[in-house]
Amino acid sequence: MASSTYGRLSHLLRICVNKHSVLQTGTEMKPGHVCCAHFMRYQRLVDSKVLTERQKQQMARGLPKQKPITGVKQVIVVASGKGGVGKSTTAVNLALGLMANDPSKSVGLLDADVYGPSVPKLMNLKGNPELTDNNLMIPLTNYGIPCMSMGFLVEDVAPVVWRGLMVMSAIEKLLRQVEWGSLDYLVVDMPPGTGDVQLSITQNIPISGAVIVSTPQDIALLDARRGVEMFKRMNVPVLGLVQNMSVFQCPSCKHQTHIFGSDGARHLAHTLGVQFLGDIPLHLTIREMSDRGKPVVVSSPDSPEAEAYRKVASAVVQQLEEVNT
Ligand SMILES: Nc1ncnc2c1ncn2[C@@H]1O[C@H](COP(=O)(O)OP(=O)(O)O)[C@@H](O)[C@H]1O
Ligand SMILES: [Mg+2]
Repeated sequence: MASSTYGRLSHLLRICVNKHSVLQTGTEMKPGHVCCAHFMRYQRLVDSKVLTERQKQQMARGLPKQKPITGVKQVIVVASGKGGVGKSTTAVNLALGLMANDPSKSVGLLDADVYGPSVPKLMNLKGNPELTDNNLMIPLTNYGIPCMSMGFLVEDVAPVVWRGLMVMSAIEKLLRQVEWGSLDYLVVDMPPGTGDVQLSITQNIPISGAVIVSTPQDIALLDARRGVEMFKRMNVPVLGLVQNMSVFQCPSCKHQTHIFGSDGARHLAHTLGVQFLGDIPLHLTIREMSDRGKPVVVSSPDSPEAEAYRKVASAVVQQLEEVNT
């Protein structure tokens, strides 16, 4: 497994080095000669000395200037303080919901979770992106949605090989070296938490709005609150909260159970003065279809679950209009 990880990473690095990518940091790397040994050596060079030097340079330059992603009109980030609350599932179905509500809109999906990319599985996509003549990666497309994910570039994203600058460089590559064409919306599936990756993304690109996903559970809400506060501090408009897995309806007796609590996210939205964007039930079909790479919005468009996602998508569009006027 480790060797295949290094193999894939060296492939990624080869693309990057050949194309003078952002992964090329303080060291000189010659095109076309990246292998495991190079990679390991490269990793060692990304030590505290380089890091400190980088930080100094960055401080001297000030905060990075926000630069729009070419061809993309509006960027919507889907975030949560916590992992496992259904952020990726929401991001995928939101992207599909935006398109289902208005087929004239073009929507893309960027998986910014470099540690645990989910988009390849959720969108049933795999393979290496091809490059344009300008050395930009061409997204892989399914269900009419062009997608980009670190999962297309490396098979096993082993946390051990992803450190500091590597992660930042990978993010920068995903933000800057993709040929999206012309998009009305780019939905970004953010990694969990409120750390460096989130900061880096918010500092680098203009974001039209953030959608925060939470379960109604206290512990998830605490992290969701942190997420909302981070975006507010970074001057990113918070479009609102999506409450996921709020109600479970027994498929046989139809009895409804609020496994994680009932209205936590709704109350939190009220407390924080942000919009409540909608409720997504805890439903077996959502989990099963997600695991099969067939998101409910396309696989069961007539189900109440798909309807719930489409409602969230229209609430998001409405909020985008409000915050941008
Ligand atoms: N509303 C839902 N009903 C049933 N299962 C869900 C729902 N939302 C998410 N899941 C499942 O929960 C798990 C975690 O979801 P995921 O979207 O990967 O979370 P995150 O991106 O926040 O880590 C996945 O197995 C997914 O299929
Ligand atoms: Mg995820």
